[in-house]
Amino acid sequence: GKTVVVTGYASGIGASTASKLTELGALVIGVDRSDTGSAPRVARTIVGDLSTYDGVRAVAEAIEGPIDVLVNNAGVAATHPWRTVLSVNALAARDLTRLLLPKFGPQPVVVATGSQTGFQWQRNFARANAFLEIDDWSDALDSVSDLPDIDQLCYALSKEVAIVHAGNLAVEGKRVGLRSNSVSPGTVGTPLLQDFRATIGDELINRSADWAGRHAAPEEIADAIVFLASAESSWISGVDLPVDGGYGSFIFRTLV
Ligand code: NAI
Repeated sequence: GKTVVVTGYASGIGASTASKLTELGALVIGVDRSDTGSAPRVARTIVGDLSTYDGVRAVAEAIEGPIDVLVNNAGVAATHPWRTVLSVNALAARDLTRLLLPKFGPQPVVVATGSQTGFQWQRNFARANAFLEIDDWSDALDSVSDLPDIDQLCYALSKEVAIVHAGNLAVEGKRVGLRSNSVSPGTVGTPLLQDFRATIGDELINRSADWAGRHAAPEEIADAIVFLASAESSWISGVDLPVDGGYGSFIFRTLV
């Protein structure tokens, strides 16, 4: 089987992804900040904190190659300080990928969990790339500290950066046969949804479920991640795949 690293494997979308991949015969290395009771059984677990560069480096050092797939899925909502949100959701994905690149076997595959809130229809590549180009975490974070309402904006910005990063990787990694894509869920019934209610508010969170009929189940997002992690998606790279019951398409049509 393939060796797959899944960050944020202990809950929600990551847990479902890790279970499905294990069922399919993959050797899953689950990374999370703590081993919660609800975490699925995987081949190996690494307890680590992806909110600091040192934490990311320790996780990368604990992983022996060769690995086949990296799923950058761990994420937090703006219930956390904005620096933490941008660190876990964006910088950790960038640098875990960078540190693990030498440990990949042939044809590396990377899948990121983005979000519909990652400015799907108005993605600001210049802003995301300016952030991604700053290697030092505190310098990168300082560079966006003056953006208006960063306490709230941080989540959407972090996802915009994560999605742009996943697309950039598809281009930069082509010469080594790397494929990289992201999956962008609408609202999903996981513990994180409560945190979104606390930050974005019930009205906005309910709007997509009102239109689509319900929130997604974590398994529905995991299925898309598993597809993009597998050889069945061998000719797909550089794509952000919305998995939102069609809500994003509806929003797009009401905007234009
Ligand atoms: P969740 O809260 O159930 O799972 C997230 C996992 O990431 C948890 O196990 C958590 O411990 C881990 N994590 C958080 N911070 C960490 C850190 N510093 N170090 C190591 N692990 C850490 O949430 P869910 O919903 O499964 O989220 C997974 C991904 O999906 C996230 O990137 C999230 O932003 C994204 N997403 C979720 C949506 C939703 O409505 N639930 C919508 C769109 C995107």
